[in-house]
Amino acid sequence: MTASPRGATPAAHPGKYLVTGGAGYVGSVVAAHLLEAGHSVTVLDDLSTGFRDAVPAGAVFTEGRVQDAARVLDASYDGVLHFAAHSQVGESVQDPGKYWRNNVGGSIELLSAMREAGVRRLVFSSTAATYGEPADTPIHEDAAEAPTNPYGASKLAVDHMISGECRAHGLAAVSLRYFNVAGAYGSYGERHDPESHLIPIVLQVAQGRRESVSVFGDDYPTPDGTCVRDYIHVADLAEAHLLAMTAMTEDEGRVPSGTHLVCNLGNGNGFSVREVVETVRKVTGHPVPEAAAPRRDGDPAQLVASAERAVRQLGWRPSRTDLAGIVQDAWDFARARARQEQAGRP
Ligand code: UFG
Repeated sequence: MTASPRGATPAAHPGKYLVTGGAGYVGSVVAAHLLEAGHSVTVLDDLSTGFRDAVPAGAVFTEGRVQDAARVLDASYDGVLHFAAHSQVGESVQDPGKYWRNNVGGSIELLSAMREAGVRRLVFSSTAATYGEPADTPIHEDAAEAPTNPYGASKLAVDHMISGECRAHGLAAVSLRYFNVAGAYGSYGERHDPESHLIPIVLQVAQGRRESVSVFGDDYPTPDGTCVRDYIHVADLAEAHLLAMTAMTEDEGRVPSGTHLVCNLGNGNGFSVREVVETVRKVTGHPVPEAAAPRRDGDPAQLVASAERAVRQLGWRPSRTDLAGIVQDAWDFARARARQEQAGRP
């Protein structure tokens, strides 16, 4: 069964939030969760990688870049959830300038628009890619930060910028460092074009839309030689964003003004590329041919989270941790999209 919008707990303090990148995968799921909890949501998205029909009904939509946030923000907003960014590791190695311009440049403008409008709470979509090749597994937030690709470096630069903004101007912020987000939430799911992430690619093979999945490298120092990642359900991830905002807005603030909390979000379980492919075969019942391919630039061998801090400080309890269940939700979403495409709907 696809994880679907369910009776969310109503927010104790309904707020008004700007969601940058709310037409994208994670942003749209978080926007849907905010609306279900009774908050008001404005989505700012330039639709460069997002889709207008992914913006949840009930959100106000403004088409524009993060750099345009000043046009939208005013003192009536309680906070910002910032997702708009380029997010492909491989592309960032090929075209680093795109990542610095958009991810860092956009965030500079957003922070100054927030300061000018007097909006003092931020949840930032950060990434495990800020750590690079970890010395220890699972990765804690105090691990060395040594990104192996410009994507991770650009997100780390924004994290540093946010810390400075908190210290200098009293912003309250939570950076959530995602490991590998996967799965779907009702009609909200992963729709990159072209697709670059492992699970949707393997599902395209199962659907007969691709001949095979390229396995990027089988000589990594991991049990089966393929890269190991920590896959986290997008709905569990979304819940952490609402908890982070609550931690900044409640009366006895756990994340008060002037504080920047950084939390990893993952399940603490690693699965190799081959294990993901095998899980897709089992869930879908379709054959999935593999093709050996060279390593992809910038890929660390293993990324597995310790999310103890999010559990302890945000009260986060991920509940969809089974890989087969995550793949099942992504599969239900992929099939529903295929049916819509066949029916001629976008
Ligand atoms: N992979 C393949 N074949 C493919 C696609 C991916 O073998 O066709 C491999 C990759 O090399 C990697 C693994 O599958 O080892 C996962 O790759 P994804 O592209 O799905 O995800 P990444 O691990 O590269 O990156 C994702 C997010 C980042 C985040 C990172 C943190 O896109 O934003 O997880 O774990 F930083």
